[in-house]
Amino acid sequence: MRWSFESQNSAELPCQGAEGPGIARREFLRFVAGSPLLLSALSAAAAETVLEAVSQVGSSAQESRLLAAAADAINVFDFEAVAKRNLDPAHYTYLSMGVHDEFTLRANRDAFGQVKLRPRRLVDVRDLDTSTEVLGTELSCPIILAPAGAQKAFHPQGELAVARAASRMDHLQILSTGTSVRIQEVAAARGAPIWFQLYTSRHWPISWLQLREAEDTGCPVVVLTVDQTGLGRNRDSLHRYRRRHNAECQVCHQSLGEKIQRGTDALGLDLRDLIQDSMILDWNVVDRIRKETSMKLVIKGILTHEDARLCVEHGIDGVVVSNHGGRAEDSGLSSIEALPEVVAATNGRIPVLVDSGFRRGTDVFKAIALGASAVCIGRPYLWGLAAFGQEGVEVVLAILRREFETIMTEMGTPNLSAITPAHVRVAEAT
Ligand SMILES: Cc1cc2nc3c(=O)[nH]c(=O)nc-3n(C[C@H](O)[C@H](O)[C@H](O)COP(=O)(O)O)c2cc1C
Repeated sequence: MRWSFESQNSAELPCQGAEGPGIARREFLRFVAGSPLLLSALSAAAAETVLEAVSQVGSSAQESRLLAAAADAINVFDFEAVAKRNLDPAHYTYLSMGVHDEFTLRANRDAFGQVKLRPRRLVDVRDLDTSTEVLGTELSCPIILAPAGAQKAFHPQGELAVARAASRMDHLQILSTGTSVRIQEVAAARGAPIWFQLYTSRHWPISWLQLREAEDTGCPVVVLTVDQTGLGRNRDSLHRYRRRHNAECQVCHQSLGEKIQRGTDALGLDLRDLIQDSMILDWNVVDRIRKETSMKLVIKGILTHEDARLCVEHGIDGVVVSNHGGRAEDSGLSSIEALPEVVAATNGRIPVLVDSGFRRGTDVFKAIALGASAVCIGRPYLWGLAAFGQEGVEVVLAILRREFETIMTEMGTPNLSAITPAHVRVAEAT
């Protein structure tokens, strides 16, 4: 264990012999800083020196709480502080932000508290099996890496590091339209089929080219994201941040516009400013994609039974219940709350996946019990990536897997089909 805590509680302090004079100095400085009488007795310069020293003690304590190695992590949250330290503040803001008041971002976590577990005892769980199958893709565990754009903003190896981790840990990777590495390279690094996530453009040739490229690379499934209108006006924290820091993305990583431009240079079109900001999405576009591609079509961003029913009517192969990790509209509606109505509306005809706020094996268990076929994670693996590259992603997956296996054991469910709605009780909203 390489953790080093600085305890506020003297009863929990490590033995004086190990830290002796350092602790005594810290305690003394804190004592002086916390006493207005003593501070006022010092000269202004001396008081400032004490306050400065105390703030440095605080920040080195903060630093010493960070993981020194991926293997030291106890849970996935441990990676976030390291990611924050490693990343350029603009990239960290992009990674962590929600929208507007971040009601949805918080709801994604809080809502898990409303789903209680009903454990069954005395079940033989020695042959635990976490495997399943979704749309023809075999999963060794129902935890999937959600699409996330521009991963080179988080680590120089970006999507390649994630693909290698996915390969070692045997998890499905969904590659974003905004990938910072070419799809062919990512697929080769993964060594097994990946799914491709599509953001459409109102300029059909762009979407068409992307569909062709994904098909040619052997992607069996395209995941169409429908919860981003592209206007991006609700990203308060990002806009506030950009008032102070307005470096061009190209300084450290490629923007989505740049990437797509590269792909469409051959057409002689300047499409840079037409990406996303002009996205128009309706059922006509969905039907067109449905007709144009032989890949299975999954829609990501469904939150209501009305839209879930329309998906079935339009011949969609699967849905992802998602609020984009609290980055779409600030509805305050968590994904886990929305899941049951989507499951009821689709009624077993198509698989229902879910993401947004999943951080624990118990969260994954709750979703499976409520009818999800699998769960996607976003920020946890991006924290792992930003903190320790490929190894960070691997450890994040290993922790979640271990937690999921633990809760399956505790709940008396030896395999996924043994997990049923009877294993959860959803508290009434107050
Ligand atoms: C930094 C970041 C970039 C993302 N980029 C995309 C993207 O390009 N396409 C997409 O469909 N979803 C994108 N998402 C949303 C994720 O696919 C997923 O829905 C979300 O992260 C799940 O919530 P979680 O982060 O709480 O696990 C992104 C999320 C984050 C945090």
